[in-house]
Amino acid sequence: MSGQTAPAQPGESISVDVPAKINPHLGVGDPRADGYHALSTVYQAISLHDTVTAERLGEPGIEVTISGEGAGTLPTGEDNLAYKAAKLIALYAGIEPDVRLHLNKRIPVAGGLAGGSADAAGALIACARLWEVAIGDAELHRLAAGLGSDVPFCLKGGTAIGSGRGEELTPVAAVGTWHWVVATTDTEIATPECYKEVDRLREDGIGRYSADTGPIVRAFESGASADELARLLVNDMEAAAVSLRPQLASLMHGGLEEGALAAHVSGSGPSILFLATDVKHAVALARRIRMRGGARSVHLAHGPVRGPAD
Ligand code: C5P
Repeated sequence: MSGQTAPAQPGESISVDVPAKINPHLGVGDPRADGYHALSTVYQAISLHDTVTAERLGEPGIEVTISGEGAGTLPTGEDNLAYKAAKLIALYAGIEPDVRLHLNKRIPVAGGLAGGSADAAGALIACARLWEVAIGDAELHRLAAGLGSDVPFCLKGGTAIGSGRGEELTPVAAVGTWHWVVATTDTEIATPECYKEVDRLREDGIGRYSADTGPIVRAFESGASADELARLLVNDMEAAAVSLRPQLASLMHGGLEEGALAAHVSGSGPSILFLATDVKHAVALARRIRMRGGARSVHLAHGPVRGPAD
């Protein structure tokens, strides 16, 4: 594992920032025999992040506490993906877990920004450092993929092509920084719900698999302008997300009317990403989208940023 810090002394804690992910290209294929959908995606990590802090409990056990987004509603027991990550790395190391994990969440929950996966990635790294677990990149990737399709990318960050069910990564050397306004909504969409809707719409002949990531990969590698990028954004889940939550359409149109270069559903939604020309445009656009109403919260973000295991 790269980027190691010194191991924790008793009473010390380890904090890890983990970015949200977006999918500037999200191609969704047919369901596979294992129920997952084949993906051809391009991930990018953005500057909206959760902080995972791990400290020794002093006795066997895993405790999870949460502040910020989702506090009071998210599970803190075995159903929490960060809890599962702590348990998994302890099992890998052959040790009894003794950790209190605190998740300070800024990434909206069930918003298509991989907040839960980011927490799992952060917990893997924080616990590995806390317990001084010697683990190589390949093994860490394997554990991450077992926790969820997006977790390997959340470890690495940056920009990467995702294939398989999203867990097979090929890094992309993106040149530049792109600026986004992230608008969240009052509703949530569970990822499986959106995949089911994609399948249902396909049975009705709506939508097709956008398998070719070549054009957007070349755009990132060549430092394309935001104007060029706007024309290349793809999300095969967009029609499904809008079909499930029709109010997304008016939020997207509103942002375009306010001058966004593009409106893009983030992953399986319902967060909406508005592409801006530069940081100045993003600040003005965020203000106008906030004033217009209809969004629960509006954030500024840029990408790509590094992940905790880069
Ligand atoms: O991999 P992860 O646990 O995050 O996936 C959550 C759910 O999303 C899966 O159980 C599956 O229903 C759906 N999914 C899918 N195809 C993918 C990734 C996720 O159908 N490539």
